[in-house]
This record gives sequence, C-alpha cells and structure tokens, in this order.
Amino acid sequence: MKHLLKLQDLSENEIADLLNLADQLKYEKKYGIPHPMLAGKSLGMIFEKSSTRTRVSFEVGMYDLGGQALFLSANDLQIGRGEPVSDTARVLSRYLDGIMIRTFAQEEVEGLAAHGSIPVINGLTDYCHPCQVLADLMTIRERKGYLDGLKLCFIGDGNNMANSLIVGGIKTGMTVSVACPAGHLPDAKIMRWASGTGRFTCTESVEQAAADADVLYTDVWASMGQEAEAEQRRQVFAGYQINDAVMALAHEGAMVLHCLPAHREEEITAAVFEAHADEIFDQAENRLHAQKAVLVRALKDAPLRGR
Ligand code: CP
Ligand code: NVA
Repeated sequence: MKHLLKLQDLSENEIADLLNLADQLKYEKKYGIPHPMLAGKSLGMIFEKSSTRTRVSFEVGMYDLGGQALFLSANDLQIGRGEPVSDTARVLSRYLDGIMIRTFAQEEVEGLAAHGSIPVINGLTDYCHPCQVLADLMTIRERKGYLDGLKLCFIGDGNNMANSLIVGGIKTGMTVSVACPAGHLPDAKIMRWASGTGRFTCTESVEQAAADADVLYTDVWASMGQEAEAEQRRQVFAGYQINDAVMALAHEGAMVLHCLPAHREEEITAAVFEAHADEIFDQAENRLHAQKAVLVRALKDAPLRGR
C-alpha cells in the first residue's frame, strides 16, 4: 500500500490484512510486547480542521511504533498563507517519511500524494474518512466474529462517513443500507458502484433501512465546515435519529456505532448512546490500532525520504 487516500483504492485482501495486523498490534500493546516497526521514522500530521481522536491516536501510534509524529496546524504552515500544495508536498518529502492530512477537499489529499514522494494518509476530508472506517470494521469483527453477510445501516447525512462506510462495508461482504433525506445523499459514483453489487440500498425511510440491521451507525447532522447550516440541518434531519424505536426494528443484539463527536438527542438519543457506550468507545480505541496497521503497511518499506 503506497498511500491511504480512500478505501476504493484498497483491495479486499489489503483491507483484511490491515484488520489482521490491527488485531495483532492491539494484542501486543495489551500485553506490553514492543513493536518498534517504524523506529526512526517521522510522520507529519497536517490539520486544517479540529480533531481529538485522529490527532491523539496517530501521535501515540507513531510513538508505539518507535517513530515520532509532528503536529502541523494549517494555521501555522505556509500552506495556510497560500503556498501551493505541490511545493509543500515536495518540501515535506525531503524531511518526513509520511504525511497524515485532515482537510476539506479530497483533491488536496490527492494532490499531496501526486506531488510528494512519501506516503499520504487521509485523516478525513469532506468526501471520506477511511481511517475511521477501518477502525469501525475492526470493532464490528471483534464483537461479531465476522463481517461477511452482516447488515450495516447508516442513518443521517450522506457525508464523508456514509461514503467510506458504504465502500468499507461492501468490500468486506456486508450488506449496506443508508437512510438519509433527499438532497443529502452519499456520493453518486459510490452509490452506483455499491448498487452494482446488489448489496446496497438507499432510502428516505429510517424504518426500511434499519429493519433487521446487525449494526446501526450514525454521525452528526452538521459536519465540520457546516456550522453555519446547523440550525437548518436540525430541521432537515429531524427523525434521522437512532432511538429506542429504531433499535426495536434492528436485530436483537444489534451494535450501535458512532465515529464521535456525538450530539445527543440529535442523531442519537442519550439513552441509546449510553446503552452502547462500550461499543462506541472500543470503536474510538480501535482508531489507534487500525491506524498503526495503516502506518506500518504504508511507511515500513517505503523508499527512503528524498526525491
Ligand atoms: N472520529 C474522528 O475522526 O474524531 P476526531 O474528529 O476527534 O479526530
Ligand atoms: N462527518 C463528521 C465526521 C467527524 C469525525 C465531520 O466531517 O465533521
């Protein structure tokens, strides 16, 4: 794996390999078995949006692997003052062994990868959130024992999370149902691809999507960058909520996942959130293990930094 720009770029086998390595790294951390697979390597972490989980888990992950991580706020970098991505990529390729970037446009991430000579990992764009979904798949497999044949239901905005969950879910053999209001659908190209597998549905009906689900998933109604639309979105998304009535439609023992941060009583009730807090915080923990697997596969055997 050269980069992790979006899950579409990974084969089914590569995803399975990352999940297996993530399980192994979780076990090794739990039992204090050192795994300095990236000793001497440096990861730059560019953030153009806020983060709790992504920032901390990447930083701790690099430390666990024997390397180091540099937090690079876009506000402080010259990129924030207009230095082109192409120049930034070429400069950072001379210092670092890898870049993790959280930004708005997917094109910026793809541009970094195209112009630089080191691995680039997408830490969230408006289009997708591949690292989160690898942790989600790991969490589901850990709890259910398998992924193939499960029904994953996403309720809410057809946003970055929905896009990556559709791709990750379908690629690991799950059936994916999405419930979202008209005008807020996931990416059209991703939906076309998913529909072609015969294991994808998208509907405005929460009830239809949630029926017999094994995993229910939701995310905020207003993502980072959409703060000004928050009030209007509250009207549009009212009803697109995981609550007791929706849980009653899912399979008994259905899991509930949330990428966090959560807005209680908006996309999920406090009662459902707390009833499934063990799953949700396992999911947050698994960001660390899944991303360490990504870092190892992308950085370990990458050519030396430079041109
Ligand atoms: N889920 C997630 O990416 O969290 P952060 O925004 O805190 O990184
Ligand atoms: N859709 C959310 C995900 C946060 C992890 C956002 O982009 O803000």
